[in-house]
Amino acid sequence: MEQKKFYITTPIYYPSDKLHIGHTYCTVATDAMARYKRLTGCDVMFLTGTDEHGQKIETKAKEAGVTPQQFVDRIVEGEKGVKDLWKLMNISNDRFIRTTDGYHVKAVQRIFRKMYDNGDIYKGAYKGKYCTPCESFWTESQLVDGKCPDCGRPVQDAEEEAYFFRLSKYADRVRHLLEDTDFLQPRSRVNEMVNNFIKPGLEDLCVSRTSFTWGVPVDFDPGHVVYVWVDALFNYMTALGYENDEHDDLARYWPADVHIVGKEIVRFHSIIWPAMLMSVGEPLPRHVYGHGWLVFNGGKMSKSLGNVVDPYLLAERYGVDTLRFFLLRTFPFGSDGNFSNELLINTINVDLANCLGNLVSRTTAMVEKYFGGTLPAEREDDKADCELKKLACALRDRYEAEMEKLQFQNALAEIFKVLDRANKYIDENAPWVLAKDEGKKIRLATVMYNLLETVRICTTLLLPFMPESCEKIFAAIGACPCCRGWEKANQWGALRADATVAKGEVLFPRIDAEKELAELAAIQEAQKKAALPAVEVDPLAEETVDFDTFCKCDLRAVKVKACEAVKKSDKLLKFTLDDGSGADRIILSGIRKFYEPEQLIGKTVAAIVNLPPRKMMGQLSCGMLLSAVHKEKGEEKLQLMLVDDAIPAGAKLC
Ligand code: MSP
Repeated sequence: MEQKKFYITTPIYYPSDKLHIGHTYCTVATDAMARYKRLTGCDVMFLTGTDEHGQKIETKAKEAGVTPQQFVDRIVEGEKGVKDLWKLMNISNDRFIRTTDGYHVKAVQRIFRKMYDNGDIYKGAYKGKYCTPCESFWTESQLVDGKCPDCGRPVQDAEEEAYFFRLSKYADRVRHLLEDTDFLQPRSRVNEMVNNFIKPGLEDLCVSRTSFTWGVPVDFDPGHVVYVWVDALFNYMTALGYENDEHDDLARYWPADVHIVGKEIVRFHSIIWPAMLMSVGEPLPRHVYGHGWLVFNGGKMSKSLGNVVDPYLLAERYGVDTLRFFLLRTFPFGSDGNFSNELLINTINVDLANCLGNLVSRTTAMVEKYFGGTLPAEREDDKADCELKKLACALRDRYEAEMEKLQFQNALAEIFKVLDRANKYIDENAPWVLAKDEGKKIRLATVMYNLLETVRICTTLLLPFMPESCEKIFAAIGACPCCRGWEKANQWGALRADATVAKGEVLFPRIDAEKELAELAAIQEAQKKAALPAVEVDPLAEETVDFDTFCKCDLRAVKVKACEAVKKSDKLLKFTLDDGSGADRIILSGIRKFYEPEQLIGKTVAAIVNLPPRKMMGQLSCGMLLSAVHKEKGEEKLQLMLVDDAIPAGAKLC
């Protein structure tokens, strides 16, 4: 029988910033699916890569003072870059495509020309709105409150000569694909696409740009570069050899079985991508799966909000497998999931330390203690064990049903039901009591074997999620390679009757939650600070003030005669000032957190002296001291505006 093929892809990532836990989630999920398919015996092609063109990269490179190519090289290939992260996370991709790879660039040029030659790409003028961070064109009607409907940021007016793709021509076929087939999953995404994009009417899509150069040049019209999404989407085929000689796997793997993508890019994958494939006459992928986002405290993770969760930190602290497991055990793949440190630590303790880790270590420890590490081969046939055996043998089918729907959370829940049952089985059978009775040795060996077999089956099915830990568990329970496969995962008795265990290291140590959460929060706070801009100043005021109004401000040099903290206030300092009038002037200023009162005595500072007096904490303040304010790494900084001490009190500042 011919081996079943399975072609699966992740989105190709924008190397504009370091990747975070959200990107890791998407890639780990795809990896688990690819490993699962390999486990079941499929010939798998798993593709990932990077989407390296576009205005955003060009702008970022300019800011960094390097060429766009140098910029993307660093983020893709450099230390803690994209490739490094996938290596760390044990991602088993078979191929990695960069859209700057020469063969891809040439292929995109050919594809563009093909669609131009068949009349689906034509030249026109583009007028509309462009969201630079998202690299997306929008029509006026698609904007939400005048802003980008994806990211909520301001959009710019754009008008230029451009090429258009006849997306409108394919509207009916795409609608049929979405509504009448299982192309787009989960089903809830179909309504989003049809209601938001198809029903309002599909307009032709602008597919070239002239206002920047970092893209695939349109070879028959210099000055135009191909729209980054056209360039990016075709990666799924060029990586197999479409329109190039670099690879030769198109016939073997295309059409893709599933493109895994985040919800915000479902539009590109379920509308634009099939329409372009229809245009070039190629078969459509079988499925697109739009997963949810990992959010942080309910909000989108973003560098500018300083709430991105660093996968390197978590993997270093808890282990790669633990992180992989947590991501897929905790959040339903089709919907958004709210990341929190509490959830992470709780999952580690409950599932990995208490349930799986404990089961493996208790079982192997007892086999060592009661049998010196090797079970005797005799068994007792006891009906009481039936429930555990039945449950374990039926697990593979239930797991498979969930994995086929990409419901990783449910598949793992099925495994943990069996592991929980096995832990209960230990308590029910109390091996430590059986061990006291020489006549119950065979019963004890039977109980131990049933536990090892249950662990073997569960571990086989956990392989796609925690590949390295599963190898350690197999070694611990004495499972040789021939009893680890998919075909043995629904069969009882594959493990040798006289199995020898090897109690190893503690696989998943229990974590002191309170202590760990405090440490983690402190580290993440420090990371957040480090990611903030070094220096931040308020934007300049847009509103003008007329000269006469400005001149009404009476600005003076004043000398600090006395300064003290205001009782019961943690903000205010009370200044007694010489303003040159002969009478003392009192000003209260909310700068206590920046100065010790005695530091300021004798200094000459700037003040506005004709503001109406104001009562604060029961005291009258007559004026305001001027300060310079800005932020450093998110922290407020303030310095009083000091005036040269040679300037006499009362001198007018103008
Ligand atoms: N370059 C495009 C994809 C082109 S595919 C032909 C792109 N890149 S991206 O780097 O911005 O995002 C890559 C993937 O990461 C997307 O599927 C996106 O949904 C996913 N995620 C980014 N942040 C995420 C979360 N916070 N949570 C889950 N997935 C998230 O889009």
